[in-house]
Amino acid sequence: MSQMRRLLLAAAIISSAIFSCQPNSKPVIAASVDSTNRKWWKEAVVYQIYPRSFKDFDGDGIGDLKGIISRLDYIKSLGVDVIWLNPIYASPNADNGYDISDYENIMKEFGTMQDFDSLLHGLHQRNIKLVMDLVVNHSSNEHKWFLQSRNSRTNPYRDYYHWWNAERGKPAFRPGSFEVDGSGWRYDSLTNAYYLHYFSYKQPDLNWENPKVRQEIFRMMRFWFDKGIDGFRMDVIPFIAKDTTFPVITQKELDEKYGGAWDHYMASGPHLHDYLKEMNTEVLSKYNCMSVAEGAGVTTATAHDFVDEDRHELNMLYHFEGVSLGFVPGKFKEIEPGGIKLIAFRNLYSKWDSIFEERGWGTIYLGNHDQPRMVTRWGNDSPEWRELSSKMLTTFLLTMRATPYYYAGDELGMNNIKFNSIEEYKDIESIGMYQQIKNNGGDLREFLNDQKITARDNGRTPFQWDNSNNAGFTAGTPWIKVNPNYKTVNVAGEEKDSMSCLNYFRKLIKLRKENLVFVYGKYQLLDKDNPNVYAYTREMDGKKVIVLLNFTSKPASVNAGINIDNGRLLMDNYGKASSASTLRPYEAAVYQL
Ligand code: GLC
Repeated sequence: MSQMRRLLLAAAIISSAIFSCQPNSKPVIAASVDSTNRKWWKEAVVYQIYPRSFKDFDGDGIGDLKGIISRLDYIKSLGVDVIWLNPIYASPNADNGYDISDYENIMKEFGTMQDFDSLLHGLHQRNIKLVMDLVVNHSSNEHKWFLQSRNSRTNPYRDYYHWWNAERGKPAFRPGSFEVDGSGWRYDSLTNAYYLHYFSYKQPDLNWENPKVRQEIFRMMRFWFDKGIDGFRMDVIPFIAKDTTFPVITQKELDEKYGGAWDHYMASGPHLHDYLKEMNTEVLSKYNCMSVAEGAGVTTATAHDFVDEDRHELNMLYHFEGVSLGFVPGKFKEIEPGGIKLIAFRNLYSKWDSIFEERGWGTIYLGNHDQPRMVTRWGNDSPEWRELSSKMLTTFLLTMRATPYYYAGDELGMNNIKFNSIEEYKDIESIGMYQQIKNNGGDLREFLNDQKITARDNGRTPFQWDNSNNAGFTAGTPWIKVNPNYKTVNVAGEEKDSMSCLNYFRKLIKLRKENLVFVYGKYQLLDKDNPNVYAYTREMDGKKVIVLLNFTSKPASVNAGINIDNGRLLMDNYGKASSASTLRPYEAAVYQL
């Protein structure tokens, strides 16, 4: 992973320079919404569950479907509309389910198809929709298609994957995430050929250029839709199409055409949009469903091609520019000294808002299973500020014009565990990067320090239910350590506290649901040069609200240029607002004007 992740991160930064435009400064025309523009997936709040870490029912230390079923009432109590479940299909778990060996069966550790049916039923009974992960850029190397494919050069499944016969020489470089040598090709002596894998060698890339592969995938998608699921989150879907001549890509070409970024190259395959259109015609258009692309490699220049309605492809995508902000190119995932640069952060989110102003639709997130905990990365997880800064970030996510994707545990203010040694990590990415740095004689201490902030496992520690053993997550030994702060940060404790992060999240969801201005209202950035406070209005059909967010641990003044004195306070993470012109540390205040 390391090789590619570094390239991707560098790319994200370069791309933001290349494609950046100024935040919208046009005069405000209040948005309005009519029934044709309204869509359930635009109004939804999506709650992401990482099943491995949510709730273990059978005591093996691994979260499971019955565990989720046992907590459906909790999920309902949040007020969320859609659950996105990370992969639950049969998998040898090289990458925690992102290596699927059978798309139509459930991973043993997670339960059975019957459990799945009960889960879906339980969600629908509660009026909550279910979105599954669709991982079809690659399968597991233990999938029966791949087992056949590697068997012989003439096997009917041979061209379900991308092979390069060794007598042609070595194939041109392609990056392979998670691989210690950074290469996306693996030599297989059985047939004297290399196969392509953009991730680990256990995740061979499927050959979408083969119509049979596409038909198999579309059939499988229909299988899940016919069971009643409500949509798919599509894992690295921009990478599916490949130029199968696998030309040599020079650095010059990469720089000039793809902003120096392999992921932009990978997300620009020749027939990508033909395949997405075909998927739409064959599957998505037949169901009342939602579709969201993991927008790896997608920029503001290419985003519309995926999501505009007249393209007939997907509904939404989530970009990587936000979560990549501040990573230093050429390093692991180090963050710029001095923490987040609010002006850059704000310009970036304003830019992404503006590109979907007239067409398409955006998403917003600050955490997921591939990211550290939101409060550690974007707020302040010291005991003094963890709760306030976490609520401030939640306010941001739930007051922007985009569908919020909220990661389970963030509603409690869960923060990074910050492991001390590599032995504590379970993630293929961290382990691979460590090995690569070790092989290259790099600075392992620096790497481990960096991982305390950036590693994916920080977002994967068990959900904290109560202050009993292992946070009430399991009666067994958890597959990954529980954050020791579970004694104080947990659902049971927060239920009792009306000011807790948990109850604040519920109130904000209610506010968003009761006021469509938060969903569809025109966004305008205010006080553009303020280094400490992010201020914006949302406006629609005569209703106007203002959101003020102090991103620092100091009192900060704001000059919104709007008279807020007669405004009605709708939310404040301190309980009550003191002054609209000076915000307390990490204060978030929302007024109706
Ligand atoms: C996506 C997933 C990530 C996984 C990778 C390979 O980025 O979110 O968890 O490792 O794809 O499937």
